[in-house]
Amino acid sequence: MIDVQTALSSAFSAAIAAALGNDYAGTDPVVRSSADASRGDWQANFAMSLAKRIGKPPRAVAEAVMAELKLGDMVQSVEIAGPGFVNIRLSDAFLSRSLGAIAADPRKGVPEATRKDMVAVDYSAPNVAKEMHVGHIRSTIIGDAISRVLAFQGHTVLRRNHLGDWGTQFGQLIEHMVDEGLDSVGEHAIGDLNELYRASKVKFDADPGFAERARKRVVALQSGDAETLRLWRALIAESKRHFAKIYKQLGVLLDEGDYYGESFYNDMLGPTAEELASSGVAVMSDGALCLFPEGFKGREGEPVPLIVKKSDGGYGYDTTDLAAIRHRIRDLGCTRMVYVTDSRQKQHFDMIFAGARMAGWLKDGIVAEHTPFGAILGEDGKPFKTRAGDTVRLTDLIDEALKRAFDIVSEKSPQLPEVERRSIAQAIGIGALKYADLSNDRIKDYVFSWERMLAFDGNTAPYLQNAYVRIKGIFRKATDAGVTPAQGPIALGAPEERALAVEILRFTDAVDQVSRSLEPHRLCTYLYGLASLFHGFYEKCPVMSATDPELKRQRLALCGVVADTLALGLSLLGIEVMDQM
Ligand code: ARG
Repeated sequence: MIDVQTALSSAFSAAIAAALGNDYAGTDPVVRSSADASRGDWQANFAMSLAKRIGKPPRAVAEAVMAELKLGDMVQSVEIAGPGFVNIRLSDAFLSRSLGAIAADPRKGVPEATRKDMVAVDYSAPNVAKEMHVGHIRSTIIGDAISRVLAFQGHTVLRRNHLGDWGTQFGQLIEHMVDEGLDSVGEHAIGDLNELYRASKVKFDADPGFAERARKRVVALQSGDAETLRLWRALIAESKRHFAKIYKQLGVLLDEGDYYGESFYNDMLGPTAEELASSGVAVMSDGALCLFPEGFKGREGEPVPLIVKKSDGGYGYDTTDLAAIRHRIRDLGCTRMVYVTDSRQKQHFDMIFAGARMAGWLKDGIVAEHTPFGAILGEDGKPFKTRAGDTVRLTDLIDEALKRAFDIVSEKSPQLPEVERRSIAQAIGIGALKYADLSNDRIKDYVFSWERMLAFDGNTAPYLQNAYVRIKGIFRKATDAGVTPAQGPIALGAPEERALAVEILRFTDAVDQVSRSLEPHRLCTYLYGLASLFHGFYEKCPVMSATDPELKRQRLALCGVVADTLALGLSLLGIEVMDQM
């Protein structure tokens, strides 16, 4: 067993039950990795809360539990500290043995989840006929990392790109296409589509005749008029080409098969509304069919509804999300649903979930989570904009990341051929962009800074990629010298080696934390800590220049596990590594 968290937790749980009786069998032993290595590698913090329940001093509770603890040679020491913390130090034998097993394991010791979910991850979701801008980057990057982590844990992940591809705005867009004789927009660049959007909006606001025709066009679209649908499809197709290009550049998993835009739910809107009406979950209010989830109040304390069906008979954003959650649970069998949008949509999703619960779709055992994130700010602390004050287009952002990374690589490694420098720049530039986003607590706003995200030191992608490259360099030297890494248990003599081993055994816990909290920054923090420990090790412990040939092989093996763990961890964030930079 190399899953330390699980091994310690079950041993402590069993000891708690043995010491205090079966009433306490389900108690969470609160096993956590320790931040302070001098106290131990892991902690179990159950004693304080149990002491309250039982009415005995925490230290006495801890002692009673420890008397029943069976951990064999996994631990070197288990000690009570302070008011009743239990500090655990893993044994060197266990660490060596586990590292050897991890070295040979492509999953680096991470077990698959015991309960496998069918998870829908709703992310990216840009709006058709509008260019993707910087606001969509967070949902795309965070959602992608979450999808990767959950899939790695063995869950079935359904990526759902909930494109804004339906609604009243298409009336004006299509009407404008008709006016301009734009039969198809196929050969026009998406820049023109953006312009199309702008021009149609100007007309809509200025020309009441056009506005009226646009409204009629919406009705034609919704009733399936063939010519209107044809133009609508042309718009969608052109937008999808633009999205696909961005997704490919960013190296995110989303593709054609993941597009489930709002229009996909069109046929389900009527039946959803009818079901909600006939069960009495939705009620008529001011001519509209409304669902009032409990506890959602407006500014004046008035209850706020989800609009299931507007008074004109139309359906909107709320209905689509109700139909989507119903479909995901009922038809797809989802047991977990994750929605990645900015925090301004929190209330919307809280209401959708409450509504789905009232409708009886979202039952116990099924989890729906909104995964909100904050804004990207410029270095002036205001929302991130171009110098001219416009929203930053995602293509421009990607181009700049690639250009800046290419300049850095060319400066550092001018001897490499250009194709190679380009491919390294791709990994560094895109990696930096993604990592800057992922490494910040997602709920907070973060300040966008090219200098910071592309720096080779600090908590950045290039720093982690560089640690990997260093190890690859050591391995090249080893190959040249005919030295191979040791197989089996890895000996740990120096404290730096031991610290690395303890940290590598925490990888499982880091991945697990992300899958539970849906906070990718926890994995970033972990990988940064691992890379920092590696640099400490590398300064103190010579590898290829060690005099003892066996020590060389042992340290080489340890380096190999670090490199593999970094590469795997970064891949779960959607970030590539390279052999040199
Ligand atoms: N298209 C929406 C927007 O740009 C995001 C959709 C999020 N997903 C959902 N199921 N509502 O704001």
